[in-house]
Amino acid sequence: MSNIPRRHAITGATAVAGVAGSPIGHSLSPLIQNAWIDAAGLDAVFVAFSPPPDRFSHFAEGLRGGAIRGLNVTLPFKEAALSVAHEIGDRAELAGAANLLIFNEDGSITADNVDGLGLLGALAAQAPGFDPKAGPAVIVGAGGAARGAAAALVMAGAPQVRIVNRTLARAEMVAGAVGGGARAYALDAAAAAFDGANVVINATSAGIASDDALNLPLEATPADAVLMDMTYKPLLTPFLERAQMLGRRTVDGLEMLIRQAGPSFEAFYGRVPPPEVDVRALCEQVLEAQALMPGNTS
Ligand code: ATR
Repeated sequence: MSNIPRRHAITGATAVAGVAGSPIGHSLSPLIQNAWIDAAGLDAVFVAFSPPPDRFSHFAEGLRGGAIRGLNVTLPFKEAALSVAHEIGDRAELAGAANLLIFNEDGSITADNVDGLGLLGALAAQAPGFDPKAGPAVIVGAGGAARGAAAALVMAGAPQVRIVNRTLARAEMVAGAVGGGARAYALDAAAAAFDGANVVINATSAGIASDDALNLPLEATPADAVLMDMTYKPLLTPFLERAQMLGRRTVDGLEMLIRQAGPSFEAFYGRVPPPEVDVRALCEQVLEAQALMPGNTS
């Protein structure tokens, strides 16, 4: 891993930001943010935190008023992050979750959600010319990730959002929460949901090791539909592999992670990430190394 950047010295003035999740040990966010910090020559550091799952609000409370610039928030704290905020942006409100907290100097906390920017940025980068307004968007899954994706596509002007889920009642809840005429489908009605789809996004936690459990009728998607997976472990998921075998354009979850990291960096440091750093190559290097670790399933 010789290409992974070396840190500058920590000083008394070093600005701290971080990511909180549980588990957090394999998060790629510190790698991405510190590579940008080093290339930009900032006196800053980005670290990972793993507060006890039931103590997020205490943890966030302790950081108010100057301890830290901001936090990215990942599973399982995205909903809790919303509840500790004093000010909530529209994107976080509609997604029902926050993945970015800014700790203001006056002691208040502002919640935002840049996962949607990550999702749309990944689609623009890996499926050039993709237009969210061009047709229905299908989200498979009805957890927090699915709700965030649905919210982003409603805000981007998708003419219809279709939520497909194993448990229909959860799909109906997500459809109701994001509004905009969203419709819910059971998993066995997936082919009907895929009919005429502009984009299909896998936001389930199923089929990471094998897609037997999901077995989606991807052949029912139009030939020019874009198929995206929000998971990036493995980088080429069974869902994406099948999509590629069918000749569909695909978008991966690593690109989404990187594309949400950019707006987070901007929120922490008030400048865009230095473009010369190939953070994707750094992440791929680490993912490959992690995949080779014995017994690693995370
Ligand atoms: P997150 O908040 O990360 O999105 P979640 O709330 O646990 O996680 O949601 C996981 C999603 O994956 C759900 O939509 C779940 O379907 P159910 O609502 O029916 O539970 C879906 N999922 C997980 N395992 C699945 C499987 N084997 N087959 C189909 N869907 C599955």
